[in-house]
Amino acid sequence: MDKKVGVKILSSGSYVPEKVLTNFDLEKMVETSDEWISTRTGIKERRILDKSQTTSDLAYNAAVKAIEKAKISVDDIDLIIVATISPDAPMPSTACYLQKKLKAFNAVAFDISAACSGFIYGTTMAKAFITSGLYKKVLVVGVEALSRVTDWTDRNTCVLFGDGAGAMIFEASETENDIVSTYLGADGTHTKILNIPAGGATLPTTQETVEQRLHFVKMVGKEVFKVAVSKMALAVNKAQELAGLTDNDINLYIPHQANLRIIEAVAKKAGVTKEKVYVNVHKYGNMSAATTIIALDEAYREGRIKKGDLVELVAFGAGLTWGACILKINF
Ligand code: COA
Repeated sequence: MDKKVGVKILSSGSYVPEKVLTNFDLEKMVETSDEWISTRTGIKERRILDKSQTTSDLAYNAAVKAIEKAKISVDDIDLIIVATISPDAPMPSTACYLQKKLKAFNAVAFDISAACSGFIYGTTMAKAFITSGLYKKVLVVGVEALSRVTDWTDRNTCVLFGDGAGAMIFEASETENDIVSTYLGADGTHTKILNIPAGGATLPTTQETVEQRLHFVKMVGKEVFKVAVSKMALAVNKAQELAGLTDNDINLYIPHQANLRIIEAVAKKAGVTKEKVYVNVHKYGNMSAATTIIALDEAYREGRIKKGDLVELVAFGAGLTWGACILKINF
């Protein structure tokens, strides 16, 4: 009889571009203030990729760190999943550009589009592919170059986003079960409150779509806020329920870092110990699919995560999509 296959997490890695854009810089670009941005969102600054860089460069830098830490050869990676809503190009996938840059030519590669929940969706796919026996060493990357799809004349959105990448490597294991549980959700009735309207088949690129700035992120912030709080709180509790765990068992919560007020409201609604909630939104803003994995990697490097700790990631994004996963950090 076949042995049951579980998942071991080998490593994480992250990368943020060097250029810092502060709230004070934004005051010179749009009608806003450090005071407004800080009190409404908790964000003080964000990173912006260099003109010479693209999404797969950010992904590459994060992936290399994870690969080096895992002490594996790129030839061993047999699946690359990239979660992004700001790809190198509409076609082909950023995962294929990344595969080429890494020279990981034994890997199957594709992108997923689940916005800010992308890393949790990707982790869930890694678990499904590994436990089914299809792939053995999986690289999941959450990466965004949101500054390239941000309307820098729209103060409602441009103060919120930043660029960065995070990576994690998973492998098949007969003894470990490091992806303890995952829970995902989606509701396509809310597609209009957070989207990039043009550039797809519905509104192909024309001079008008460009003039109307329809290729940038549009958002109805208040609506998004409400659903974000209720679905993230639900996801936190569901992932614990699926694992037979409670708040007492979780060592660190890593919520999607879109807005400090959302993070605080989710913690309260989900009934989690607020001292266990990791926050780095002040440094980076919302990096969509890259946010939770960058925060996890930073928390690990800061010593906030010890070997054997249970870390719960939770996120919410365009779609709308949401999800949570509990990871055992044993590397
Ligand atoms: N600087 C100054 N004023 C701004 C501003 C800015 N950067 N952006 C918007 N405003 C103004 C608006 O024009 C509006 O003015 P008006 O009332 O005269 O029309 C007012 O501020 C809006 O204030 P309010 O509605 O009270 O803001 P808010 O408390 O809802 O905060 C967000 C706005 C965007 C910070 C908040 O709704 C939010 O975080 N939503 C979720 C966003 C998110 O996380 N999205 C990604 C999910 S993955």
